Amino acid sequence: MHKPILIIGACGQIGTELTFELRNKYGADNVIASDIREGGDALMQSGPFELLDATDYAAVEDVVMHYEIEEVYLMAAMLSATAEKFPMRAWNLNMNSLFHVLNLAKEKKISKIFWPSSIAVFGPNTPKEDTPQNTIMEPSTVYGISKQSGERWCEYYHKKYGVDVRSVRYPGLISWKTMPGGGTTDYAVEIYHEALKQGKYECFLSSETQLPMMYMDDAIRATISLMESPAEKIKVRSSYNLAGMTFTPKEISKSIEKHIPGFTISYAPDFRQEIADSWPSSIDDTKARQQWGWTPRFDLDQTTKEMLDNLKATTN
Ligand SMILES: NC(=O)c1ccc[n+]([C@@H]2O[C@H](COP(=O)([O-])OP(=O)(O)OC[C@H]3O[C@@H](n4cnc5c(N)ncnc54)[C@H](O)[C@@H]3O)[C@@H](O)[C@H]2O)c1
Repeated sequence: MHKPILIIGACGQIGTELTFELRNKYGADNVIASDIREGGDALMQSGPFELLDATDYAAVEDVVMHYEIEEVYLMAAMLSATAEKFPMRAWNLNMNSLFHVLNLAKEKKISKIFWPSSIAVFGPNTPKEDTPQNTIMEPSTVYGISKQSGERWCEYYHKKYGVDVRSVRYPGLISWKTMPGGGTTDYAVEIYHEALKQGKYECFLSSETQLPMMYMDDAIRATISLMESPAEKIKVRSSYNLAGMTFTPKEISKSIEKHIPGFTISYAPDFRQEIADSWPSSIDDTKARQQWGWTPRFDLDQTTKEMLDNLKATTN
């Protein structure tokens, strides 16, 4: 039987689907969902839940000891667009929550950690196309600075204290179960909702802004596959590059038009354009493929079909 797992930030875009999948795999009672707020009905009814502030070390330690938690998935964070508005709050949440979990592992109170990084660790001086695993980073956003610092600390805790921490640099994630939480790639989710509701969408990025993206099913599969891999295969202890697909707002609108003829997109770039311009347009994830067998399954057209079919079914 799998030892108990704690998900922190379980009510967010990724945490919700991760909770469902881990409960499917390991049993509902073995997966403790937690967040600073309550989540959707389906999540709240699917198994044990704790209200928990990730920045409160004593509270996190209490939950870990109470449930005899073995693994923690730390999904709580402030995302890129919101973090630009509240830099100090973002830094405190993104860093303190990570230190708390790393220190619990250092003290041997838990034995494995998943902590997500992001393509936001890269910056304007990074090679944009096929961005390599190891390259110039120099992130220019508050969020990116916190993720790059987080990566350095993960590697440090692994090397110095033997902490088994694993991470991927998620691209922008596209999903239909939970709305995204304030990132720069949120347009690629909103566009499907608006396409069905209004038949049109005003995009906050320009038509040619190409960004790395991934369908949520692929992201969840990557996460669990990394966590289930034997420790000796995981050679990168900062965070793995991870790629699914890459496209522009113009290309996603063309893909939607195949299902919704007459769908139109207009462009009104805002402060998020500058963030997007500092990020890569495509990612080289050779190391993830070679070391733990990563392969994505969803391309843009398959994602569009899944998004539209599922959103239609849930709103009917
Ligand atoms: N969604 C993406 O496209 C994407 C891309 C790259 C990286 N990531 C990373 O993946 C992780 C999860 O992202 P997400 O998209 O699910 O974010 P989200 O904003 O949808 O969810 C984050 C959750 O954390 C919770 N939270 C906030 N403060 C908390 C606190 N103090 N204590 C406990 N919970 C708290 C929120 O209530 C929310 O439910 C984050 O680390 C994020 O940086 C996400």
